[in-house]
Amino acid sequence: PPATLIGVPTDVGAGRLGAAMGPDALRVAQLGPALQRLGMDVLDIGNLSGPPNPRSERDPAAEGLRNLPECIAWNQLAHDAVLAQLGLGRIPIMLGGDHTLATGSISAVARHCRAVGKRLRVLWLDAHSDCNIPEISPSGNVHGIPVASLCGLGPVELASMSGSVPALEAADIRQVGQRSVDDGEKRMVRQLGLEVYDMRSIDELGMKEVMHRVLSGIEGEENRDVHLHVSFDVDFLDPEIAPGTGTTVRGGPSYREAQLCMEMIADSGRLSSLDIVELNPALDIRNQTAELVVDLVESLFGKSTLVRTRDRGGR
Ligand code: ARG
Ligand code: MN
Ligand code: MN
Ligand code: MN
Repeated sequence: PPATLIGVPTDVGAGRLGAAMGPDALRVAQLGPALQRLGMDVLDIGNLSGPPNPRSERDPAAEGLRNLPECIAWNQLAHDAVLAQLGLGRIPIMLGGDHTLATGSISAVARHCRAVGKRLRVLWLDAHSDCNIPEISPSGNVHGIPVASLCGLGPVELASMSGSVPALEAADIRQVGQRSVDDGEKRMVRQLGLEVYDMRSIDELGMKEVMHRVLSGIEGEENRDVHLHVSFDVDFLDPEIAPGTGTTVRGGPSYREAQLCMEMIADSGRLSSLDIVELNPALDIRNQTAELVVDLVESLFGKSTLVRTRDRGGR
């Protein structure tokens, strides 16, 4: 399937500066050529151009959400770019940028699915649930609210970006890898009824069973009408292997667990759009986190050690 790389160089939604350099770090790590080696048609359309970050990270958080107008502008740009690529029949791959941009990208995916009559499934790979609303966010950082926005809560400019509120149902989302959820946010996760496979679930069930559950109902011929979107926050990974991100939390998936996660998504054959977010080169060590992400994204698009004869996706 043809894919399009879309750079979204922003850190306006994060508490720390630096994620704006993420797209170029992924390019330096050869993301595009790596996917081309898998036989994919890959087009890099460069970076979107949005408002700069008006604040240094040391400024005290203002009332409410930090940099909200800038976050709205970046999300609108991301939305428009993703919608255009989906209209061309291409897989949009967002090179973030902080996780704020997922409201824009997934709103576009939801709009596209509505227009073409597809069912949507979102996999949210993240140490966090990103389900805060302005009233309960302890940080005021907009990258902590995209899941709530997509479910229709919080600032209306974000909640309504798909052209209908909510953009999607909580039941369309599966979260994997969580290990840091704020107190009020826990109640929100519960209230929305989000299906969350946190690190304890992964410990108890194993990554294989977790991914089996997360992908249930979207694999096979009878589910060809499902559009699978993966929102991959780099802090999903254990910080020992992925230090280059702003909100690390210890105790994340290992290299092997992350590989299996990606491989099982590839086998589903449904991956149709992707966010790669929160990579922060200012915190990385010689681009190792970007290189790891490229390695994992190759698996996500079907790279495997052996020829696999009965891949369900038939890739
Ligand atoms: N829950 C915290 C907050 O609201 C951390 C969010 C981190 N989000 C992220 N996309 N890295 O600020
Ligand atoms: Mn489509
Ligand atoms: Mn996170
Ligand atoms: Mn996140």
